[in-house]
Amino acid sequence: MQPQHWLERWEKQQIGFHQAHINTHLETFWPRSGIAPGCRVFVPLCGKSLDMLWLRAQEHPVLGVEISPRAVADFFSEQGLQPTVRKEARFERWQCADLTLLVGDFFDLQAADLQDIGAVYDRASLIALPPPMRAAYAGHMATIKPATAVTLLISMEYPQQQMQGPPFSVEETEIRALYGPHYQVERLLQVDVLGENPRFRERGLTQLSEKVYRLSTA
Ligand SMILES: C[S@@+](CC[C@H](N)C(=O)[O-])C[C@H]1O[C@@H](n2cnc3c(N)ncnc32)[C@H](O)[C@@H]1O
Repeated sequence: MQPQHWLERWEKQQIGFHQAHINTHLETFWPRSGIAPGCRVFVPLCGKSLDMLWLRAQEHPVLGVEISPRAVADFFSEQGLQPTVRKEARFERWQCADLTLLVGDFFDLQAADLQDIGAVYDRASLIALPPPMRAAYAGHMATIKPATAVTLLISMEYPQQQMQGPPFSVEETEIRALYGPHYQVERLLQVDVLGENPRFRERGLTQLSEKVYRLSTA
């Protein structure tokens, strides 16, 4: 999945992954995940997710990264927010109070960019990537993220042969292989979600589940 794929999807508004509501797993599990109140939260591959607004409403400053300038512009305009926009060496920084979105490539982030991050929220980010990129993503995340930052990760599993990603099916064994060397991986939930996803049923899926994980060093 090269950046061009995503840029085109945003331009054509093929954004079925975007949720018009706050993610219920976020609302349920974030408060139980031992995440420090008020810490800054990193949202990788953030799109125009409304979950960032929920995190802000919980008093968390938010830092997102997103390759599509269209997604970021739409996020601020749809929320009626007026950001300042600053061109930097690797990113364009769109900022409105404690909400900062970096337009650019996740893989260009450096540890210094995330030094004050206390938690990470990954929904539909790891599963947006094909297998070789997932390994690169998890490896890069482990090098740039402060080790103590807890991650809430929402992943998806289905018979991969029934549908071409994205979203890709990412099995629990892979999550543990990717993150186990760096973190304690705790599965918080496994739930069947085929019934509430007709668009995936129409694409041929007969099984679909979501899993929620907490990744931490303690
Ligand atoms: C499946 S969407 C999920 C968006 C968001 N997490 C959500 O829950 O709505 C994946 C997003 O990652 C962005 N993306 C893909 N590759 C990226 C990269 N290398 N760096 C930054 N953003 C990227 C895409 O433009 C897209 O908005």
